[in-house]
Amino acid sequence: MGKIIAIMSGKGGVGKTTLTAYMGAALNRRGHRVLITDADFGMRDLDLVLGKENDIFFDAIDIWKERCNKDNAILPLRAGFDFLPATQSRRWEDVGRKGYGKLIKKIAKSYDYVIIDAPAGIGRGNEAIFRVVEQLLLVAEPMWVSLRAVQRVMQLCHEERLFNYGLVLNNVGRSEAAVPVEEALQSLQVENIGTILPHSTNILTWSQAGVLHEECDGAIDTMMDPLLDYIESDTAWAEEDVLTRWNTLVAANTDDETDDSDSEIDKTSVSEGESNLSSSVNTKVTATTADSEVAVAEPGVTAAKVATEEDTLEAVDEVVKTEEQPIEEPPKKLSFGSLLKRRFTSFWTRGGRLR
Ligand SMILES: Nc1ncnc2c1ncn2[C@@H]1O[C@H](COP(=O)(O)OP(=O)(O)OP(=O)(O)O)[C@@H](O)[C@H]1O
Ligand SMILES: [Mg+2]
Repeated sequence: MGKIIAIMSGKGGVGKTTLTAYMGAALNRRGHRVLITDADFGMRDLDLVLGKENDIFFDAIDIWKERCNKDNAILPLRAGFDFLPATQSRRWEDVGRKGYGKLIKKIAKSYDYVIIDAPAGIGRGNEAIFRVVEQLLLVAEPMWVSLRAVQRVMQLCHEERLFNYGLVLNNVGRSEAAVPVEEALQSLQVENIGTILPHSTNILTWSQAGVLHEECDGAIDTMMDPLLDYIESDTAWAEEDVLTRWNTLVAANTDDETDDSDSEIDKTSVSEGESNLSSSVNTKVTATTADSEVAVAEPGVTAAKVATEEDTLEAVDEVVKTEEQPIEEPPKKLSFGSLLKRRFTSFWTRGGRLR
């Protein structure tokens, strides 16, 4: 029987589905037969990132209830890589936990790995999944809400006596407000660090396009190695080795950075075409003739109104000038590398542990 792995997070929206699809494809590229399955009954989403939303006629519950055979419900993605969708019409509350376990174990006979995309929260679905899995991957973003949710799932792992779990710190570099990597790891004190994955705009694009399982992102693949090794061997890389790989990736990205702050400012500069003639907001406009100033419009008054009856339109065109407004420099956009490198000392953790 193949190894059954689940991807959990406690908190929603942190990358379970993304990891299920991407990691499933990566394992398959290493030569394994892989099935990925959505256990988010009533709220499925794995089908979307795989572009299979219009191909689903049967689902996991139909196999279990013997309304179809498994080949009717399982959708091939490529050779040795399949997808079993979740039911959309029932929720976990309506589904027997034992029955689900039996079904997954039966299906796992035809694969090397079955990867379950677990629902968010710690409800009934996850109770059922705890009973059937051999290994758990806990996904967290480096944000306190997410880290605390994972900590809660870790408690459940201990209650369920499931100790083969590892952490995947995902989407690192997405937010300036994120907890630094070392601090996030220290706060959770997880024995097994599966990997650390960077924020990647490719992931967003490919998920939207429904081709996440077909594409490869260099940075993500670099950091997939420790995770795939952990899955294959049940032994995680040493934390310092994962961190070394991560820091090397960060350094490479930082070196690649080019300072584009000038062009950022250029883009926000007022171009000639954006004459304040059409602007009526907070602009002090002075209309003058060749010799003298004739009118000053207060903020909220358009330049067109400034033109007095005596002024010819041409004269106005020529002389209307906007008092130079200091151009506010936009905040310097933090690059991927600098976001990753930021070091914060947080007052949210006490003694290196979340409370
Ligand atoms: N490493 C990443 N880089 C960029 N975007 C990411 C990354 N991981 C996840 N995302 C994006 O974050 C969003 C949430 O991811 P995903 O749907 O995988 O989370 P989830 O945990 O499955 O959510 P839910 O609990 O709602 O099912 C998606 O838009 C996804 O594309
Ligand atoms: Mg999901």
